[in-house]
Amino acid sequence: MADPILHIADLDVRHGRTQALSEVSIDVYEGEAVGLLGTNGAGKTTLLNTISGFLRPAAGSLALGGEPIHQCPPHVIVRRGVLQLSQERDLFGDLTVLDNLRLGSLARAPKTFERNVEKVFHYFPRLKERAGQRAATMSGGEQQMLAIGRALMAEPKVMLFDEPSAGLSPLFVQEIGAMMRNLRNEGEVSILLVEQNMLLAAQVVDRFYMLRAGRVVAEGSVSELEKDHEELARQYYL
Ligand SMILES: Nc1ncnc2c1ncn2[C@@H]1O[C@H](COP(=O)(O)OP(=O)(O)OP(=O)(O)O)[C@@H](O)[C@H]1O
Ligand SMILES: [Mg+2]
Repeated sequence: MADPILHIADLDVRHGRTQALSEVSIDVYEGEAVGLLGTNGAGKTTLLNTISGFLRPAAGSLALGGEPIHQCPPHVIVRRGVLQLSQERDLFGDLTVLDNLRLGSLARAPKTFERNVEKVFHYFPRLKERAGQRAATMSGGEQQMLAIGRALMAEPKVMLFDEPSAGLSPLFVQEIGAMMRNLRNEGEVSILLVEQNMLLAAQVVDRFYMLRAGRVVAEGSVSELEKDHEELARQYYL
């Protein structure tokens, strides 16, 4: 098999004296969607924040396309094509939808703004209808769509989604799930998806890793998630 686009090996991460991740090894291959599951406090966000350069690992390695990135600051990691959707959507609230999208394109893809904005509007027609609206006045689900759209404007190689369905109504969960499936099917972006909603995760990912107390305690293919998600939930969440 080809080398992974994202290679994480034996990663240890601490928050002060708390060891949040221990010996975590995860690979994501090109065009693949990988799930990261685990209960509250398992270390999922810590892992995404470490990949994005907001946290420095105490040990272990992180490589993007074969190049080490664990010493890089966050803006460099964005420029290399890793875009994180945080649990907080951190949009520019005073700016319009369109201006938020414009800012998303600046770091990596300013020249292809027009093409990419059409793509984002195709995924989320609701954003097109609201292109001139201030981001702060959008609903939670609309803001989530805008945050995803803004990341797409950078033509990401790897997208890190941190519980994109949290707090959304079933309709929005469905729309965001469909959009992530499309992204995976187009195969241009690799996805690492943190999700508590196992049904949604099973619809999007090819493989998954399960974190518990900062360690990878299970990994497998999506068919296990589809068949046994109740059993898995009992085993690892309870
Ligand atoms: N800045 C911090 N300082 C100290 N401890 C932290 C910090 N951030 C996270 N932690 C701790 O690290 C552990 C992992 O937290 P993390 O946010 O990665 O979990 P998570 O799997 O994303 O949980 P959730 O599903 O609730 O979002 C938790 O015990 C948490 O309290
Ligand atoms: Mg989290």
